[in-house]
Amino acid sequence: MKTKIIRVSNYYEDNIEEACNILKNGGLVAFPTETVYGLGALVSIPEAIRRIFLVKGRPFDNPLIVHVGSIEQMQMICYIEEKYFEIIKKITPGPITFVLRKKESVPVEITAGLDTVGVRFPSHPIAQRLALCAGAIAAPSANLSGKPSPTNFESVWEDLNGKIECIIDGGESVFGIESTIIDLTKDMPIILRPGPITVEELREIFGKVEVYQTKEDERPLAPGMKYKHYAPEKKLKLIDKDLLINYANKDVLILCTKETKERYLSEANNTYIIGSYAQPYTIAQNLYKSFRYIDKSPYQSAVIERLPEYGIFFSIMNRIKKASQGE
Ligand code: TXA
Ligand code: MG
Repeated sequence: MKTKIIRVSNYYEDNIEEACNILKNGGLVAFPTETVYGLGALVSIPEAIRRIFLVKGRPFDNPLIVHVGSIEQMQMICYIEEKYFEIIKKITPGPITFVLRKKESVPVEITAGLDTVGVRFPSHPIAQRLALCAGAIAAPSANLSGKPSPTNFESVWEDLNGKIECIIDGGESVFGIESTIIDLTKDMPIILRPGPITVEELREIFGKVEVYQTKEDERPLAPGMKYKHYAPEKKLKLIDKDLLINYANKDVLILCTKETKERYLSEANNTYIIGSYAQPYTIAQNLYKSFRYIDKSPYQSAVIERLPEYGIFFSIMNRIKKASQGE
């Protein structure tokens, strides 16, 4: 299959009509969002939804997130309890997914049989306009299952060229890690996946919230969290920053912050800077690109600097721990 590329240089320019038509005809379109790129199909076309799983190699028991372009569209997909309505209105659009009770119209293919659905109202203008023009869009991240999520056109192309109808190139994703997922169907809001909207911010908004930790032998609440994710193919090890010096000029790639490079590793030539400690959102933005770089680099394996675990660092460390799982 020839994959059509749509390049968007101006977010408000109207050249996504063709992508809309592809979706309406049951095609798959990869599109930019403010977190990572999504691989979309229309909620109303179950055969297209099934193709998403096949193309990605995604297990069918891992439900998809539905993307909408307005609160009204969100209400067509799920029930929003009154006590949450104003809050959701206030924090959307943005990099957060709400797990809510689903409406009849959502096919089982999307929810893997659950009676809840993950819904997201992204702030990216292309994602919004696509959903408003074509209809609600079910979309996981636009990578092959097991690979790091794509944060730019090139990464989507690497994984999906020739397998889907269209990719919209909207440049680099701003946040670089997937949306925060919060389950609003239980007594207390539960964060199923930490993300760009931090635990601290959510505590301020919702009052008490729980941070879900998967225990062994338990079915994770967000089924996707049980799979090894976001991981490079080569081995990645998590190392305290003052021990990184032991790897200087060895056959190992050192992923570190700008500050650590300057302070401890200025003489080492096997380093790759993932962002600045002083501006942690730059680390989130570059994280998956650096994971993909590990596999392209001439090094046999990589080590990555351990970061603190508060605020956005907590979400970043969640992804780093998964990528270095068991190492
Ligand atoms: O930022 C994002 O959320 C990106 C962009 C494209 O929007 N999407 C994304 O989708 O990361 P995906 O499929 O890679 O991750 C979705 C996660 C999975 O872990 C899945 O198990 C969980 O959301 N999920 C979806 N529906 C759920 C539900 N009803 N209950 C609990 N977890 C759910
Ligand atoms: Mg994913």
